Amino acid sequence: MNRIGVLTSGGDAPGMNAAIRAVVRAGSEKEMKMFGIRDGFEGLIAGRVLRLRPRDVGNVIQHGGTFLGSARSEAFKTKEGREHALRNLREFNIEALVVIGGNGSQSGSYALSELGFPVVGIASTIDNDLYGSDITLGVDTAMNIALEAIDRLKVTASSHRRAILVEVMGRKCGYLAMMCGIAGGAETVVIPEVESKPDDVARAILDAYRRGKNHALVVVAEGASCNASNLAKIFEEHRDLLGFDIRTTILGHVQRGGVPSAFDRILASRFGVAAIETLAQNKHGVLIGLHNNGIQLTPLKAVVSTKKELDLSLLQMSRVLAT
Ligand code: F6P
Repeated sequence: MNRIGVLTSGGDAPGMNAAIRAVVRAGSEKEMKMFGIRDGFEGLIAGRVLRLRPRDVGNVIQHGGTFLGSARSEAFKTKEGREHALRNLREFNIEALVVIGGNGSQSGSYALSELGFPVVGIASTIDNDLYGSDITLGVDTAMNIALEAIDRLKVTASSHRRAILVEVMGRKCGYLAMMCGIAGGAETVVIPEVESKPDDVARAILDAYRRGKNHALVVVAEGASCNASNLAKIFEEHRDLLGFDIRTTILGHVQRGGVPSAFDRILASRFGVAAIETLAQNKHGVLIGLHNNGIQLTPLKAVVSTKKELDLSLLQMSRVLAT
């Protein structure tokens, strides 16, 4: 394989630029011709392809986001869209594709590989909900950004004896919320994987108040059935149930736009090089991920059909530590 395309897709994640850089430089080192595709699968359908040489990916490793652009493509979910994309790949004589992205993006990778086109995926999403990698690209940076905000919120909460509801990203997965809850010393964590009623959250806040704490911190995943806005609405009407006065902060996309951490830059570099090594060995239809600190290849079919389970013993641990 000599002509390789690379694209970033879905929600951006800090470290995507470092991954593109690694793919382009490792490929160029093997005398492959490298091509960037703008705006994910959307750009592939539109034929937005550019040649990338090692110098074109200079000075990007330290930047968040993706200089190629990203998109969630509805068109690529259709048969016509995928056929169009395939035609463009053939027109540019691209022989294989590296797709840097999360669940939706790797479903796209799998669809393309099922049409007979060689694809290698790189596990990238701040949600850490992708089967095939213990940790995905961008999680470490996003978690540290959320944690910095949580630490600050705790300072002001303590000054005013307040409870703070802080919502972190995670549409379907509570990984970020659970880990930020542990690292930030939360009184309780609300995640989509575990049913929590507003009463349970109120009880945890009131308990903290009765035990003489001068703040209570609740970390909520955006995808939880009781998200922060819902809880805030209920608690405003039942202030007497809590002890503390309450404030709400929704961190949102701030978590995605950060400068990639050292961990994410190194992970991205390892993933990018491994993607090229894999293609050089004529292997494809797999996701590059991390398992036991080593590179792991997982068939895309397994990636798209298997749910990554959250280790709920950590949630139990966070409860013990909140006492
Ligand atoms: O996929 C990662 C993620 O950040 C989710 O946690 C979040 O729900 C979603 O993307 C937000 O997507 P968008 O950027 O399209 O609003």
